[in-house]
Amino acid sequence: MRRLDQLLANLGYCSRREARGWIQAGRVTVRGAVNDDFGAKADPADVRVDGEPLDHPDGLLLLLHKPVGLVCSHEVREGPNVYSLLPPRWRERNPPVTSIGRLDKDTSGLLLLTDQSELVHRLTSPKHKVPKVYRATVGADLSPALIPLFARGTLVLPDEKTPCAPAELKILSPREAELTLTEGRYHQVRRMFASQGLEVLALHRARFGHLELGDLPAGQWRELPPDTFAVT
Ligand code: URA
Repeated sequence: MRRLDQLLANLGYCSRREARGWIQAGRVTVRGAVNDDFGAKADPADVRVDGEPLDHPDGLLLLLHKPVGLVCSHEVREGPNVYSLLPPRWRERNPPVTSIGRLDKDTSGLLLLTDQSELVHRLTSPKHKVPKVYRATVGADLSPALIPLFARGTLVLPDEKTPCAPAELKILSPREAELTLTEGRYHQVRRMFASQGLEVLALHRARFGHLELGDLPAGQWRELPPDTFAVT
């Protein structure tokens, strides 16, 4: 049960003050009857605004094909962000829609977005070892010696103390590789290749756990069923 004015504000409809106006104006019904008491509590499933059910009252989980050029930060000083691709109402939600882990501005590919902080913590925790698959194009030829090096779990990146977890490298062509990581350190793919003298020229995340982008075009998102990451 949630307070009506708070519910509308948290779902991004309007400010709490405006919500009180909407409720007093009779735009909000609970189980079919107008309720003009903005402090009343109701089950979100019973509430309608202008006759319409509430917009995702139980939370959002989205799979986005992130294009290059957008950041995952909400900080406006960091430039245009991935949230600008979402409908305006979703950008006003509280808790805010945020990314599950981050991709760099220059990285494209599969990015999950949600307003469920429990999911963010669970899926970004190194404890859970969610495999993430990246395709990298590098600036010089790849040596097969990188395969056992990355797999060993002994590679310590500059300025770090603990080695990277074992990572699977597949060489696809002389300058293209697929790297599977189970952790998500800052700029990890770029830094792992850089530690071996290779610059990453293009980076794309193709998979996150069991999820793939499929033919979703860059800049587009699709909703995922709420039980996608249900704990069994
Ligand atoms: N590793 C990187 O270097 N960049 C990303 O965006 C993701 C993983």
